[in-house]
Amino acid sequence: MSTLSLAQQHAQIKQQLEQFAHEYYVLDAPTVPDAEYDRLMQSLIAIEKEAPQLRTADSPSQKVGGAVLSKFESVEHEIPMLSLDNGFEDDDLVAFEHRIHDRLNMSEDIEFACEPKLDGLAVSILYEKGILVRAATRGDGQTGENITENVKTIANVPLKLLGENLPSRLEVRGEVFMPKEGFENLNQVQKEKGAKVFANPRNAAAGSLRQLDSKITASRPLRFYAYSVGVLEGGEIAALETHSARLAKLSDMGLPLCRESDVAVGAKACIHYFNKIGEMRSDLSYDIDGVVFKVNSLNLQQRLGFISKAPRWALAQKFPAQEEMTILRAVEFQVGRTGAITPVARLEPVFVGGVTVSNATLHNQDEIKRLGVKIGDTVIIRRAGDVIPQLVSVVEAKRPEDAQDIVFPSRCPICDSHIEKVASEAVARCTGGLVCGAQRKEAIKHFASRKALDIDGLGDKLVEQLVEQGLINNPADLFNLTIPQLTSLERFGDKSAVNLLRALETAKNTTLAKFLYALGIREVGEATARNLALHFLSLDKVISANLDELTEVADVGEVVAHHIYEFMREPANLDIIRQLQEAGVNWPDIEVASAEQQPLAGKTLVLTGTLSQMGRSEAKAKLQELGAKVSGSVSAKTDLLIAGEKAGSKLSKANELGIEIWDEQKLVDYLNSL
Ligand code: IVH
Repeated sequence: MSTLSLAQQHAQIKQQLEQFAHEYYVLDAPTVPDAEYDRLMQSLIAIEKEAPQLRTADSPSQKVGGAVLSKFESVEHEIPMLSLDNGFEDDDLVAFEHRIHDRLNMSEDIEFACEPKLDGLAVSILYEKGILVRAATRGDGQTGENITENVKTIANVPLKLLGENLPSRLEVRGEVFMPKEGFENLNQVQKEKGAKVFANPRNAAAGSLRQLDSKITASRPLRFYAYSVGVLEGGEIAALETHSARLAKLSDMGLPLCRESDVAVGAKACIHYFNKIGEMRSDLSYDIDGVVFKVNSLNLQQRLGFISKAPRWALAQKFPAQEEMTILRAVEFQVGRTGAITPVARLEPVFVGGVTVSNATLHNQDEIKRLGVKIGDTVIIRRAGDVIPQLVSVVEAKRPEDAQDIVFPSRCPICDSHIEKVASEAVARCTGGLVCGAQRKEAIKHFASRKALDIDGLGDKLVEQLVEQGLINNPADLFNLTIPQLTSLERFGDKSAVNLLRALETAKNTTLAKFLYALGIREVGEATARNLALHFLSLDKVISANLDELTEVADVGEVVAHHIYEFMREPANLDIIRQLQEAGVNWPDIEVASAEQQPLAGKTLVLTGTLSQMGRSEAKAKLQELGAKVSGSVSAKTDLLIAGEKAGSKLSKANELGIEIWDEQKLVDYLNSL
């Protein structure tokens, strides 16, 4: 093949990759499945191996990272990267507008550009004639570090700008951050590898950006949003008169912007915007710590100028902190349904993320060890959105002399049974089973829950009362409850008692899948229970299945098979199952529907990546209704892979095996066509 035709092919693939990346990361509107992008990228890399001169600075192949540096060079910022003044209350915004009025000797409402204050790291990216030539950290504002190779790997940073009449030099400034979901996934992977776990998305972003090996940065889910312009020489953008118009122009050039940005006129409208963003905060896909308000007119910005290190024309209005310090007073140990012992931190109450927090989870023994935390320590608590408060770190400098080690109990705090810790697992468990009051309560709550037997009116509090009064010891006992027993409970009237017995009667008609789920076998969730039911079709077959037979079920690996097998070997469990059946709990036979009724009968499907239109569990349920087996891993037996956004190794494997791949839209279209 001649170099010319290679060059032509290269140019064509490069252009396609640029277009797909722009559609995916900037417009949020992908037109091809990820697999197609990956395939093209592999061909591009292959061509560049043959003809290295084609590997230019703006080649999309640069996105995968390259040489390892020994250190970062320093970069002098031509225009210093400043910081921002902070505001905390509504009045601070009003005072901000007043100061501007006074300084400019005017009284009209000011137009402000309003932008979420992203919680990441400020970065400067220099484009010369539209090509990314250098990227730097903010550093001390005057001098930063050259992180060009790393920034190039960030998925939504264009290596080449779009459009005509580009500036000869354009320094784009903005924030590099790690979206919340990417952060959770990364920490999960780090934990599994026994590597460092990051305290929050900001730290994870910082740690990922300052890697001498850009391949590591490339593997981290970083994103960039542009929020201002530094050096600017020529181009259409130089003629624009407002900050927001400049940002819009950056977007036309292919740079990603935060979609929630807006303009507001006057302090009152700014306060409204601030409150609106505050309400959206926990639903945003990325962490923010406030809102930045900037005078929109570039002319007015110039007239206002700077004071010490911050512009007079901008204000960062901060949300109440999501991280606060407090003191760890004690640690208690809670017992879950499967006996898992969870250490819970009892804290000196602290106001964080908008609520008063006095408890936080410590997860397990390994986590306590990792944190190195002791009772009496000053600790940092984080509460982001609706999630359970986390204890993120210890302020060791503040450790009191009488700080005490946290002693993990060797016996269950509820039933005094022995606590067992399996070496390969993080959790320790009470071995008491249904002897343990805590496990009994949780097992019955689970049995009655909506996705299990769905016993209307049997809430958590009632279960606790019933167990504490000794009226029930296991799920089967529920069906022997009588009206006098129920009305003997505090605040429980005749009507409630009749209703509960009626609900229990209704709940007896269930399905095999729900029944299996309701038993609360470890790691047997709704989907696994369903797969078991579809595979074995009868309870007796599940009970008598051996380990090999169990692992044949979709989604059931060795560990889960072991849990099911052990559960079914325990006489106490079989006794409860028998009692339940005797009480009248029943389910219809599973009909093996004909292929005509079930268009996906006999097909094995795998779902991967993020499905944005329906969610994975909904998609799974729909596919199962159509007769498909939905499996968790790709193998030669897989008939079809449904790949959502950010699909990873399963997609590559399906590609290798030549398995048919659909994107989410194709699945939606198919479901709609039925
Ligand atoms: S403008 C002179 N806009 O906040 C203007 N900064 O305390 C300088 N930040 O280091 C920055 N989101 O990392 C600006 N929309 C936004 C921002 C933003 C986050 C960060 C940035 C900067 C810090 C200033």
